[in-house]
Amino acid sequence: MLRNDQLDQWDHDHFFHPSTHLGQFARNEMKNRVVTGGEGVFITDRDGNRLLDAFAGLYCVNIGYGRQEVAEAIAEQARELAYYHSYVGHGTEASITLSKMIIDRAPDNMSRVYYGQSGSDANETNIKLVWYYNNILGRPEKKKIISRWRGYHGSGLMTGSLTGLELFHKKFDLPFSQVLHTEAPYYYRREDRSMSEKEFSAHCARELEAMIEREGADTIAAFIGEPVLGTGGIVPPPDGYWEAIQGVLKKHDILLIADEVVTGFGRLGTMMGTKHYDIEADIITIAKGLTSAYAPLSGSIISDKVWKVLEQGTDENGPIGHGWTYSAHPIGAAAGLANLKLIDEMNLVANAGETGAYLNKAMADALADHPNVGEVRGEGMLCAVELVQDKDDRVFFDPASKIGPSIAAAMAEDDVIVRAMPQGDIIGLAPPLCLTRKEADIVVAATKRAVKKVCA
Ligand SMILES: Cc1ncc(COP(=O)(O)O)c(C=O)c1O
Repeated sequence: MLRNDQLDQWDHDHFFHPSTHLGQFARNEMKNRVVTGGEGVFITDRDGNRLLDAFAGLYCVNIGYGRQEVAEAIAEQARELAYYHSYVGHGTEASITLSKMIIDRAPDNMSRVYYGQSGSDANETNIKLVWYYNNILGRPEKKKIISRWRGYHGSGLMTGSLTGLELFHKKFDLPFSQVLHTEAPYYYRREDRSMSEKEFSAHCARELEAMIEREGADTIAAFIGEPVLGTGGIVPPPDGYWEAIQGVLKKHDILLIADEVVTGFGRLGTMMGTKHYDIEADIITIAKGLTSAYAPLSGSIISDKVWKVLEQGTDENGPIGHGWTYSAHPIGAAAGLANLKLIDEMNLVANAGETGAYLNKAMADALADHPNVGEVRGEGMLCAVELVQDKDDRVFFDPASKIGPSIAAAMAEDDVIVRAMPQGDIIGLAPPLCLTRKEADIVVAATKRAVKKVCA
């Protein structure tokens, strides 16, 4: 194939990249990467580099790159029927079968799946449904949503509000006033360092309850949280956290939305994160791992309890006024079906648990003694390395020193992709669920080299 030498220029001149420093990119002060192929856990770029992608794209390519089974399923669906909508009772074999497969993998109290294209729009749907639910139940004041600092739920208007990271609010006039943020379940960063994990969980639940009582329980509709904090720093919950939080929510009749965009379909070594932590959710958000990002597709899994009220609502008010042109897009649904089948056939949920535990242990063994590594933490195929200036006194680096991004950049030079998480000097790892121990060793060795180099 003839190489297009203008591609770099077109990229800098015409492509608006998300989550990018626009000025630096436009001025060519930042290197681009044009990705051309992928196989298993590796990607290749236009400059001939082959890199181990230890973040699975954006923790989404769970089955790994280049799986022909999914490509074939997409092609076959496109040839047979590329599109039909799902309004007023229409559907396709793929979207109906996928719904059955998702409900089979979801907790027992779940009943229906509504489809979108992204995690963000799925969470937008969830909030609309929660508001509708309370209107139908005659509780028009019960509308506020409690999210957590460092939670990530998307970057739409409502979902950007739910997200508890400053970068996603600043200069966007967010968050909306209907959204409140409570304490992040971030044990390493707890204020009172004398607390045990259990005590800290009880403290988070007390903070939540104090907020509910301050606002009035009759004004709070739902609580949203990721089973494991993701973009906020890859932070597994402290011991007893979900049990304590659910006790408070039940007491005040507040719905629980579990955002499983990252944890759904195996990443924690369990099919769903809700199962992993015994979370009884009313609505579950899914995306990423649903299709391993081979096609854009997301979903809101709705419990029986919520579904019954939605049915009552349409009996009283007519058809539900919510829909996207691309809801349950057949190509996304075909990708989802092939992906879920492959997850089973390749035994990827078990591998995420086993190789994920190996990766986490190897990382801790390699780095725990380093004076600038404050914590190595993780669960399943999620791992984080948090860097600090002073380990004993837990003094964090000045963000301006960009330790996290420098480590990620050094690792990319070393052909391993990790993510510098956006708030704090935290190296995030979330490899495809098919990672082998040998590949985990490559990742650990590269992390060790980069930490040593950058912190020297
Ligand atoms: C937990 C969680 N929810 C929602 C989203 C938003 O998904 P999307 O980027 O597909 O809109 C993400 C994205 O990373 C996420 O991690």
